[in-house]
Amino acid sequence: MKLFINPKHLCGHINPELQGHFSEHLGRCIYEGLYVGENNKDIPNVNGMRTDVVEALKAIKIPVLRWPGGCFADEYHWKDGIGPKESRKKMINTHWGGVVEDNSFGTHEFMELCRQLGCKTYVNGNVGSGTVQEMSEWVEYMTMEGVSPMADMRKANGHEEAWRVDYFGVGNENWGCGGNMTPEYYGNLYRRYQTYVRNYDPKKPIFKIACGSNADDYEWTDMVMKTCFKSPEQFHGFMDGLSLHYYTVPDTWEKKGGAVDFDEKFWYKTLKKTLFMDELVSRTTAIMDKYDKKHQVGLIVDEWGTWYDVEAGTNPGFLYQQNTIRDALVAGINLNIFNKHCDRVKMANIAQLCNVLQSVILTEGDKMIKTPTYHVFDMYKAHQDAELVDSFIENETVGVEDDFKVPALHESVSLGKDGKLHITLANLSAEKDYDIEAVLSETEVKGVSAEIVGGEMHDHNTFDDPEKVTKKAFDGVKANGGKISFTILKCSVMHITAEI
Ligand code: AHR
Repeated sequence: MKLFINPKHLCGHINPELQGHFSEHLGRCIYEGLYVGENNKDIPNVNGMRTDVVEALKAIKIPVLRWPGGCFADEYHWKDGIGPKESRKKMINTHWGGVVEDNSFGTHEFMELCRQLGCKTYVNGNVGSGTVQEMSEWVEYMTMEGVSPMADMRKANGHEEAWRVDYFGVGNENWGCGGNMTPEYYGNLYRRYQTYVRNYDPKKPIFKIACGSNADDYEWTDMVMKTCFKSPEQFHGFMDGLSLHYYTVPDTWEKKGGAVDFDEKFWYKTLKKTLFMDELVSRTTAIMDKYDKKHQVGLIVDEWGTWYDVEAGTNPGFLYQQNTIRDALVAGINLNIFNKHCDRVKMANIAQLCNVLQSVILTEGDKMIKTPTYHVFDMYKAHQDAELVDSFIENETVGVEDDFKVPALHESVSLGKDGKLHITLANLSAEKDYDIEAVLSETEVKGVSAEIVGGEMHDHNTFDDPEKVTKKAFDGVKANGGKISFTILKCSVMHITAEI
């Protein structure tokens, strides 16, 4: 198959935030996964944050972290999570597993985690059950540098300097768990709430995100854009971004399918469902274009990834699932899609960071493993802050039965900040390897190297066998003039670096 690349045709900037993450007070994501408490002597930590996890996330250059939810965000009252830990309110996390939430991880802890990770902050506010005043005071607490009641409270709680809030979500899934609203009602509430998301430091404006649709609910997208996008001249007045949530659920919401226990039909069914992200982003973009032709509002895909039946014997409300080569393919495909739509998609956050849904990290006590999805993010970090390059790949259809067919190959290409060309390519076929000849127009290739994440479709890492799936160097790639040739193995994702 031929892969055509035109390095002279740059198509847009790839924000590092396309490789963003999401952490919710859900199951063992925050507690145990990221935060083990300041007094924990058994698991190495800095100020309560697990050192192994922080180091692993820094290695993939985590660009941004969203918190505290998810559905939890619209039940979260931030004042419960500040001040002396012993006097913080305890509550039941009714949405996720009915466990006690002791609020020991709150605003200060989130900001400390992001400081250690060196990543941007994305805080999601509460519209569903919170007041305008509550949201407004949270922003004041976090970002007001001078004298004010909330800034004084922050200082009294031990943090003198204001933090930077890079992104702020005004509600989450307000069409569902965030209040069951209609788009008209939410649109008007959004206009009101966002008014009080003040920029206390005009040099560090907060990027305000309105709640977008549940997958292909295009009516929601249209109505929220119509209500909330002010005008091309004044778009910053109301909104900077619109979210979109889409999960890859292999079967139905009632019976989703197993994370490890699946057959070839479900391999293809899952990949087909994940490819739908491309249509979803295109059609959402087309609706946004009706109001915002200049692409001033970013599409923020702040929840995406696989959602399977939970692992046997785990709390159904904890959404704990394993992660196989199939998830590596899902990650590679979605990250390629976001790259290709980088003129509109400005951030995407896989759900979720640790121990929940399609995680990059799984933990058990003091042990930690990196999932196949982690290793794909590790390869794709080369695209962060790069320029998208025009590319096209020849293809064929593979799969079983009529309903479960997909294109075999899926790619994106960028010109990195390092001046090198980065090609990421996924082979969706469960049984066939492909010979690829990449043809670069008017460009000489001076050197080439490659890495791969692949194996058998069910391969995954466990606490007993943590390195079964890793990123490996791949030396079968050759360059000749303006051509690069190699074979991509079935069930694999590759990253090729070309010096040009
Ligand atoms: O990621 C799990 C849940 O999925 C989130 O809380 C919610 O926003 C979505 O429905």
